[in-house]
Amino acid sequence: MSDLQNTNTTDTSSNSNFWENRYQANATGWDLGKVSPPLKSFIDSIANKDAVILIPGCGNAYEAEYLVQQGFTNITVIDIAPSLVEVLQKKFVHQDQITVLLGDFFEHVGSYDIILEQTFFCALPPEMRPRYVWKMHQLLAPNGSIAGLLFNRSFENGPPFSGSKSEYEQLFAKSFTFKTLEVAKNSISNRANTELFFEFQKVNAVQVNLFSIDSVTTSVKIIAEKLLAADGIENISINTKKSEILIVSANAVSEGKLQDLLSNELKLSLIQKS
Ligand SMILES: C[S@@+](CC[C@H](N)C(=O)[O-])C[C@H]1O[C@@H](n2cnc3c(N)ncnc32)[C@H](O)[C@@H]1O
Repeated sequence: MSDLQNTNTTDTSSNSNFWENRYQANATGWDLGKVSPPLKSFIDSIANKDAVILIPGCGNAYEAEYLVQQGFTNITVIDIAPSLVEVLQKKFVHQDQITVLLGDFFEHVGSYDIILEQTFFCALPPEMRPRYVWKMHQLLAPNGSIAGLLFNRSFENGPPFSGSKSEYEQLFAKSFTFKTLEVAKNSISNRANTELFFEFQKVNAVQVNLFSIDSVTTSVKIIAEKLLAADGIENISINTKKSEILIVSANAVSEGKLQDLLSNELKLSLIQKS
């Protein structure tokens, strides 16, 4: 996408400025000018035209336009870049099927049957990945799905940031059922064989919690081994900055129980769902 660095993007206003500047400078190398063919095929396969659909980090929201053309009735798009959202609000002013929101996906509240992913995940700094899984799980209605594209390649500087199939398998395990995760068959030519099409369905019967890590004195490997040996804990992901941990469990796991399991090796606090 660019040589510009997005260094402090967990902070909403600097993240918004970063993307706003990209739109102002017309530096939008990610923009395909149309719906990506894999997403188009996926949209064509959705039978329920009244499905409640979210497109986060929507950019020019070509998918929303295409959804309306196909008869879908309930689409929300959200982006953090103000001037882009202004353009979208004008563009879609007569399309009641589309709600355009200016805001941070991570603060958005709602309930969706389907969330579409198109170069949003890879645009986020990697330390936000466990938070992305947590937020997606929250925003999906029971049995809802996320579907779209994820890169399966490395990049020198991000955004876009590198990602791999094995990373996604670990990150989304237990909170989602993997319906599809395979090399996309109909990518545009310069993304051919470098992106995966995925459709992950929300697992309803698990608790997905995010904790901030206040201090850590041991390795990620040791923490993972201890937590995964505990009754009911099904998956964990610690982010690249060791500042957040995602815990997927069969039952609610309290801060107290986690502290007991980890004694002085990790101090954490629950991040409340919005
Ligand atoms: C790489 S662009 C992709 C845009 C569009 N999905 C596409 O493929 O053309 C990433 C988009 O995510 C938006 N974005 C970044 N962080 C966001 C956040 N926290 N909440 C909502 N939008 C965000 C940016 O403004 C930008 O439009």
